[in-house]
Amino acid sequence: MFAVDLGDGARLRPLEVRHAEEFAAHLDRAREHVRPWVGASFLAEGVDGARSTLSRYAASQAEDGGRLIGLWLGDRLVGGVMFVTFSAAAGTCELGCWLEPVAEGRGLVTRASRVLLEHAFDERGLHRAEWRCRADNVRSAAVARRLGMTLEGTLREAWRYGGTWHDKQVWGVLATDPRP
Ligand SMILES: CC(C)(COP(=O)(O)OP(=O)(O)OC[C@H]1O[C@@H](n2cnc3c(N)ncnc32)[C@H](O)[C@@H]1OP(=O)(O)O)[C@@H](O)C(=O)NCCC(=O)NCCS
Repeated sequence: MFAVDLGDGARLRPLEVRHAEEFAAHLDRAREHVRPWVGASFLAEGVDGARSTLSRYAASQAEDGGRLIGLWLGDRLVGGVMFVTFSAAAGTCELGCWLEPVAEGRGLVTRASRVLLEHAFDERGLHRAEWRCRADNVRSAAVARRLGMTLEGTLREAWRYGGTWHDKQVWGVLATDPRP
């Protein structure tokens, strides 16, 4: 129900509080792969932690803000895409994404992110979408590039991980930009 078919057995669906157990199991499979590249608060531990992350985004969605969209491959939750931020008033949003290793290399996040961009620009009338990633996150930057985003700048040492400061890239696309 309320699913977007991405082809190859993949579906996008809202990721909700009711998925807490499934989300916790997925995070256990994804945690070490994803940890260097996403905010620490996203990688909650256990079912209670997963529920609390999902509740936080549900509250944000209720305010028409950021939200989580899950990516299922067959019956297995394998990752997702998200509006990290979403502001109809400002006309801007930021996209995010993550996958467990088994789902990488299939184009799922690129296809899923296109669905989010179409929603933001065509249904909601937003003007600008951003993508922020660690400057050495080659796979994430490649998604931004495939989405037709422009690398607009690098924030110096804006991301601390493992006791080291990393640069952060800001990619952006406008509703009026050509879509690949
Ligand atoms: C970032 C991340 C989601 C990218 O995953 P990904 O699988 O590389 O990205 P996509 O889903 O867009 O797939 C692209 C890959 O699928 C391949 N592909 C296959 N079919 C494709 C299609 N129809 N369209 C586009 N790409 C396709 C591409 O060639 C590419 O593979 P390659 O890099 O080996 O050439 C993933 O690496 C990840 O979860 N990393 C850890 C968490 C993270 O960094 N999150 C982002 C924080 S900013």
